Amino acid sequence: MGTFRFAGGVAVVTGAASGIGFEFSRLAFLHGMKVVMVDVDALGLDQAVDVLKVPASEVLTVQVDVSQDDEMERLALSVFERFGCVSVLINNAGVCLNKSVWEHTQQDWQWIFGVNVFAISNALRHFLPKMLNQKEGGHILNTASVAGLVNTPGLSAYSASKHAVVSMSETLYLELKESRSQLGVSVLCPAWVQTNIQNAQKNRLPRYQNPSEISSESSMRYEAQMNQAITHAKLSAGDIALCAFDAIDRNDFYILPHRKINPIIERRMQDILMQRNPFIDGGSKQ
Ligand SMILES: NC(=O)c1ccc[n+]([C@@H]2O[C@H](COP(=O)([O-])OP(=O)(O)OC[C@H]3O[C@@H](n4cnc5c(N)ncnc54)[C@H](O)[C@@H]3O)[C@@H](O)[C@H]2O)c1
Repeated sequence: MGTFRFAGGVAVVTGAASGIGFEFSRLAFLHGMKVVMVDVDALGLDQAVDVLKVPASEVLTVQVDVSQDDEMERLALSVFERFGCVSVLINNAGVCLNKSVWEHTQQDWQWIFGVNVFAISNALRHFLPKMLNQKEGGHILNTASVAGLVNTPGLSAYSASKHAVVSMSETLYLELKESRSQLGVSVLCPAWVQTNIQNAQKNRLPRYQNPSEISSESSMRYEAQMNQAITHAKLSAGDIALCAFDAIDRNDFYILPHRKINPIIERRMQDILMQRNPFIDGGSKQ
């Protein structure tokens, strides 16, 4: 049992209408927090609040495209105006794409990096300075992925974006330590979880649409493999949220809920140190 004071605090959760973000919101309410549920999907937010059955005084839903700096700036202003502080900032919204690296268009990269990476830099720019001035401290949780620690065929932009999230989170941790800040930081790196992430295109805004769509046989295979992995995922979004809240409570930085993946992460680290070529499927050299 740690010392983080959830009860009576305020949680801001991005990507709150679905999957892991929805479960973060549910858990925050269960811990007695007020919750700001942020998502680009306004209808999804309304449905999520209906399911959670929370009083209107405990929740604020805001439709935001987290990749847009001005929208995040307005969000931060309205949250601090209404609540005065943020105890836990959960940068969780994320999108995924399965394609060969050479088939990713510029719009694909802009979309994936906009939602997965720039959203977090936007949130840090607009929330962090205010959180640093809070007497009560606070915590920042960034949702990365195991894809931020290892690489898999078909996930190039996604993996690159999640490596960026891990890197940004580690740097933030070090900078906050150096400045003796009270704020905690964690980076969440799950493997497969059953959510709606394979339908991410549904909320892809026109500014990120491709002029034309290419889908080769290999890209379709990558997509089918990922659908299969997500459908058969062992841990639920609720399990992941629980694991992350426990980690916040202990002030742990790295959160890896799928411990069976550890040998693959270890193998990649060893390959780098030994200057061996990257491996695929449990060890065969390429
Ligand atoms: N599901 C997995 O297997 C898995 C594994 C590792 C990491 N993750 C990460 O977990 C996080 C949550 O994903 P999930 O699996 O719950 O997926 P999900 O699709 O169920 O939820 C993602 C939410 O983000 C929202 N979103 C998308 N674009 C947005 C934007 N521009 N602005 C605001 N909100 C936006 C979506 O509307 C959706 O509600 C993501 O960062 C994802 O990369 C997921």
